[in-house]
Amino acid sequence: MTNQASSSGLDGVVVADTAISEVDGERGRLVIAGDDVERLAETSTFEQAATRVLAAGNDSAIPPIDSAEYRAAAWELVPRLGDALELADGMDALRTALGHLRATGDDLADARAAIGAAPVFVAAWSRRRAGHAPVAPDPALGHAADYLRMSLGVSRDTAAIRALDAYLVTVIDHAMSASTFTSRVIASTASDLISAIIGAVGALKGPLHGGAPGPVLDMLDAVGEPSHAEAWLLGELEAGRRIMGMGHRVYRVRDPRAAVLETAVRPLTSPRLPLARAVEAAATKILHERKPDRPLAANVEFYTAVLLDAVGLPREQFAPTFAVSRIAGWSAHVLEQRRVGRLIRPASRYVGPMP
Ligand code: COA
Repeated sequence: MTNQASSSGLDGVVVADTAISEVDGERGRLVIAGDDVERLAETSTFEQAATRVLAAGNDSAIPPIDSAEYRAAAWELVPRLGDALELADGMDALRTALGHLRATGDDLADARAAIGAAPVFVAAWSRRRAGHAPVAPDPALGHAADYLRMSLGVSRDTAAIRALDAYLVTVIDHAMSASTFTSRVIASTASDLISAIIGAVGALKGPLHGGAPGPVLDMLDAVGEPSHAEAWLLGELEAGRRIMGMGHRVYRVRDPRAAVLETAVRPLTSPRLPLARAVEAAATKILHERKPDRPLAANVEFYTAVLLDAVGLPREQFAPTFAVSRIAGWSAHVLEQRRVGRLIRPASRYVGPMP
């Protein structure tokens, strides 16, 4: 047993071999199912990327993911979700709503059901939260277009749909993130895929993982204009708070997904984009001055906030939208973990009193 595991967050400890994605934190490179994230986001829809990650996890080709049938099945459940749609937090709502899916024991079928259900449940929660009736899915639309329409109650233009699709592809998988590890631990006990997904939603909820983009938008609002950025950021650090959207456990350079999302948002009108760039520049400079030995650059959440805001989603829906995509990655990891077939059960070091 190493000391490292007990004193830290398992930094650098390899817990699995995976064919799903690879993060090179030194060079700022992310490969998903054999393609660089930049290329995958430019050339694939969410459904195509989901098919690829699931095939990678399954180690064999699978029929293409077409979420329309599963969105329709999930819609049938909406009237029975009850209190789940009344919860204040979207991640709590998604976690509770996913509990209404019945695991069949066929992992691929369960993965398709969860992938199709997530946009329907999150959109229904968001509509109810805004005081509107949920909107039924449209089988003629793709995943991103229908998610946006069900969320907003109106169809958006191609540019917005394309930007959201690029986002959903970009965050579909990211090696051994905390939520992915959670899903693999649950799968390793031979529990069902739906349980693994629900556990992963709980892990993703925290602001150190997927809960940051809402707070990033709050930060941009609080800064207000580029000239205020430096003073505002210094105030945050003086108060002992972290700058949301900055820093990463693995990347020692700018998160490559930040650039993909910054590019994807450009065709949209986003009054926040110039402000975000100014705040990022100021934060990078200040954090470098404060911590010259620890490179702290923008992570994926920084431009997630700008992009999801520009496509029209409310900030409360940002973290659940991350889950709408990552469910495909978690499912792929469950499939891959099944083939390992060994219980994940690490050790601890007892430091309490002895009898
Ligand atoms: N703002 C200010 N300081 C930060 C920082 C941030 N965003 N991220 C890291 N640091 C500082 C830490 O305070 C720590 O300083 P110390 O050595 O004086 O205690 C040092 O940098 C190293 O940080 P550490 O906690 O070891 O990094 P980590 O690998 O555990 O953290 C994150 C990674 C993502 C949790 C962290 O960077 C963070 O909290 N970022 C903000 C939240 C966020 O954007 N989350 C989304 C992640 S995709």
